[in-house]
Amino acid sequence: MADNIILIGFMGVGKGRTARALAAATGRFALDTDDLIESFLKTKIRAFFAEQGEPAFRRVEQQAADWLEHHVNGSIVSTGGGFFMVNNLNRLGRVVYLHSSLKGILSAVQRHPDAERKIKKRPLLQNMDKAKQLYRTRLPLYREAADIEIDVEGRKASEIAAEIKALLARDGAWRA
Ligand code: S3P
Repeated sequence: MADNIILIGFMGVGKGRTARALAAATGRFALDTDDLIESFLKTKIRAFFAEQGEPAFRRVEQQAADWLEHHVNGSIVSTGGGFFMVNNLNRLGRVVYLHSSLKGILSAVQRHPDAERKIKKRPLLQNMDKAKQLYRTRLPLYREAADIEIDVEGRKASEIAAEIKALLARDGAWRA
C-alpha cells in the first residue's frame, strides 16, 4: 500500500482546505484529484460532465487512481466527492472520511465569499433534491470506505489537520 493520506467526503465539506492545512502541519505535499484530472483533460470538470457525462468522468477518476497508486507516495491527497468509488482506494493510503451534516456543508458553501462559483462548478450540486438524495446514499458508503472518520462541522482546518495527524500517529500509520 502507498503511504498517502487520502481525504474523502461530500462536495464542499472542505477536503482541499484540510489537505492544505495537513500539508502545512506535516511538511508533506498535498495534491487534489480534481486538479489532476482537469490538467490531464485540459478542461474543467463542469464542461467535461456536460460534454461526456458522468460515467466518462468516473473512468478518468479510475485512471487517476491507478496513476496515484503507482507514482505517488508520502503525500496528502484530497479527492472529488465520488472518487472513493475507485476500485483501488485502500491501496492508495490511509483513507480519512471528513464528515459534516448536509445542512452544515450547504451553509458553509453559501457563506463563502465566492459561493456562486463554488456551486456553479459542481454539476451534482445544481439540483438540491438530488444533492440531498446523493448525500443520503453516500453517507454509509463513505463510512464503509474509510479507515478513520473525523467530524469537521464548524471547525477550523488547522484543528482538523491536528486531529488527523494525532490519530494517525497514534495508530502508527504516520511517519511525518
Ligand atoms: C463530485 C464531486 C466534485 C467533482 C465532481 C463530482 C461528486 O468534487 O469531483 O463534480 O461526485 O461528488 P468536490 O467534492 O471537490 O466538489
